Amino acid sequence: MAVSFKMLIALMSKLKKKASGFIFSMVLISLILNLMSCGANDNLVASPMHLPDPTVAVINDRILSRNATSATILRAQVQANGGDGTNAVNASNLFDWAESAYPSFFPQHQTNQTFQAYTFRYYPSTQNYLGLSSNNVYVMGPISAGVLTWVGALSDFNCALNPSSCANKANSAVSSSMSTSGASALNNGFDGNLILGIPTNTSITASVFSPDQNASIYLTYGLKSAQPTLQTPVVQLVAGQPTNIALSNLLPDTAYFYQLNVQLSNSKNFVSMGEYSFHTARSPGSSFVFAIQGDSHPERFKTQFDANLYSRTLTTASNDHPDFYMTSGDDFSVDTLDPNTINQSAVAARYTLQRPYLGIIGASAPVFLTNGNHEQAARYLLDGTANNVAVWAQNARNTYYVQPSTDSFYSGNTEQIPFIGLLKNYFSWTWGDALFCVIDPYWESPVPVDNVFAGSAKRSNMWDVSHGAQQYQWLKSTLENSKAKFKFVFAHHVMGTGRGGIDIANLWEWGGYDNSNAYLFTQNRPDWVYPIHHLLVKNNVSIFFQGHDHIWVHQKLDGVTYQTLPEPADPFYALYNSDAYLTGERFPNSGYTRVSVSPTQVKVEYVRTYLQADEGPGKVSGQSVFSYTIP
Ligand SMILES: [Fe+2]
Repeated sequence: MAVSFKMLIALMSKLKKKASGFIFSMVLISLILNLMSCGANDNLVASPMHLPDPTVAVINDRILSRNATSATILRAQVQANGGDGTNAVNASNLFDWAESAYPSFFPQHQTNQTFQAYTFRYYPSTQNYLGLSSNNVYVMGPISAGVLTWVGALSDFNCALNPSSCANKANSAVSSSMSTSGASALNNGFDGNLILGIPTNTSITASVFSPDQNASIYLTYGLKSAQPTLQTPVVQLVAGQPTNIALSNLLPDTAYFYQLNVQLSNSKNFVSMGEYSFHTARSPGSSFVFAIQGDSHPERFKTQFDANLYSRTLTTASNDHPDFYMTSGDDFSVDTLDPNTINQSAVAARYTLQRPYLGIIGASAPVFLTNGNHEQAARYLLDGTANNVAVWAQNARNTYYVQPSTDSFYSGNTEQIPFIGLLKNYFSWTWGDALFCVIDPYWESPVPVDNVFAGSAKRSNMWDVSHGAQQYQWLKSTLENSKAKFKFVFAHHVMGTGRGGIDIANLWEWGGYDNSNAYLFTQNRPDWVYPIHHLLVKNNVSIFFQGHDHIWVHQKLDGVTYQTLPEPADPFYALYNSDAYLTGERFPNSGYTRVSVSPTQVKVEYVRTYLQADEGPGKVSGQSVFSYTIP
């Protein structure tokens, strides 16, 4: 399609109204480059520069490490490249530092360009952008999978630019956010992480990922620390793509020690990333600990999310040596991505964003995911093609995180979805004396359960919202057929929407009543035996765990404990949605929940976490502030 100059002006005018200055300038550059290189042709409209507004930029503060050691080496180069010698924390020095630290991303010294509030540099040979706006640093291009990405505040790079005058602070920052993070850290030069998944009595799978490094990798493992006796074959790790390594023929109910060994593409040697451990499925009669978090919302930066606090929560939970770690949903929220520009890469970036964090605990505790309303991994978004938010979200979920499907150890959803395959959205397993069931209304409901992507009105009739007959029957038979002493059910929230715990457990297919207190279950679910809450009661479910409300609340109804979970990384320690809970013990953010399971008892503890600067009397990070036992 030929594009006239008049059409170009019209397009630019339209884009300028929709995009911020930084984006607009990128669009402008792209269009000019297209015209210069190709003439006015189809490539103009197919330009990759239709990007989200900076206010909804993806957050990934690990793309540009502030490692002080590397900054020390680079200081002279900063000055050689034209830095002002005093290393003032400004755009030019930051850009110069980045050019020296990351020549593969920002090759060849470029000059600053400005547009409206933005100062930026563009690197034609890599097509990467490095920009500063309102003292926030952004990158865009192949460095961030084409997605505008916030990588830090300008002040965050102070120690990188001035390492000798800032050594202690720099080292402290690195240790609190990175060095304690195990496989997620820049560990021996490896910018990657490892997250375990799908543990069984005889197997486990390690998902290894690096956003920017190619490597050869293998695992060594064995029954004794520092004495590996077994080794996997060497496999290739490609930057941006996870590689899964399965360990099989393991002994049941046994602790294993393992190491990830990495040979970077520019190195001659394999280097160990340190030793971690995991435990195969417990036998009945064996005690163990698992941990669980509520909504992490890493996209809610500076409102409900602090990266250091999240790292602290995950590190503290990891130190409990849980057998596995559960999430509760709203960990990969795509809602704030611009619906006009959202694409597969932008959705995937929400999933890779979590890898360094979940890698903190995931190297030694397999991670199980629960679907949340903000994930938008939901059936109502399917459109018969491979290109919709639901397909992108679920495929990213299943690509970057290893989750269970039905086999000899797990039971779960067997439905095949076009362009996805198995959803792996609901599943169950037995561990020790406990049954674990993760359920999901978002994929199973024929209508939107909660908020609708791109903002149109919610469904009007809550009887249209459903966990679906297939999942209901699966849950019913799973609970009925289990002989486990304790039974745990996990979901993002009662019915996947609303506020409160037992306060709304009487409603719709969960409790059978409508909101005028009329019992309408029989006519609305004629093939179902009981409402879901009654199913939990009939089958002696010990605890129903939910997130969504960003508050820790312990309640009980008809013998079933309803445990609502807080955010793990809210730096304001807020008490959200307290009014929705008329009963129960309530505690504010942030922290995680530790569950200790023995053959005779379950102990549940709320472990509060704080940023170091926020600690004080009665506010000690890592302390259990409330606990209860079952029975
Ligand atoms: Fe939610």
